[in-house]
Amino acid sequence: MDSYLENIRQDVINCTNCDLCKTRTNSVPGKGNFHSDVIFVGEAPGRNEDLRGEPFVGVAGKKLSLALENIGISRNEVYITNTVKCRPPNNRVPTKIEKETCREYLQKEIEIIKPKIICILGNTAFGSILGGTEITKFRGKVAKKNNQLYFITIHPAATIYNQELIEVLKEDIKKLFGLIRELKNGKQVSIDIEFSP
Ligand code: URA
Repeated sequence: MDSYLENIRQDVINCTNCDLCKTRTNSVPGKGNFHSDVIFVGEAPGRNEDLRGEPFVGVAGKKLSLALENIGISRNEVYITNTVKCRPPNNRVPTKIEKETCREYLQKEIEIIKPKIICILGNTAFGSILGGTEITKFRGKVAKKNNQLYFITIHPAATIYNQELIEVLKEDIKKLFGLIRELKNGKQVSIDIEFSP
């Protein structure tokens, strides 16, 4: 693993910057390929992630893996992380303070990995990273902020009880990797929305 990322991993593991450290079992640093062209960013760890100290290893994670495997990508090929690295009690949505306090870790992960595009999974990441709301209106779209490209899609957990949404997630992930292919070939991709810094 890249030594800078390993430092961040250790900082996340030992973090006591907010009260979530008092209720967590394990903090959950990002995981995966640090040469990845894409970083997937979810909301915060759930119960399984808290127990194992790894992101997206529960039911929502299976849905994400399914959507990736549908186009022949294994999750080890990409980098997966969250806006908040510790589980909020009872899986409540992270507070503004928790999101603010944890922001530096995601920023550092992005600085080191330098992904071609960041895939935002669901409303919490959308709000926290781009200040957006109403994911259903923006899903499947490409956004730009501060010269960084983003791709917006639904949270994999939304597909658990809704079979139609798994098709939406699969379709979006397929589109995302099509965009990555174009970026790797040096092509410009068209931006749907620009967010101000
Ligand atoms: N949901 C998330 O947002 N992140 C995880 O790691 C697991 C479930």
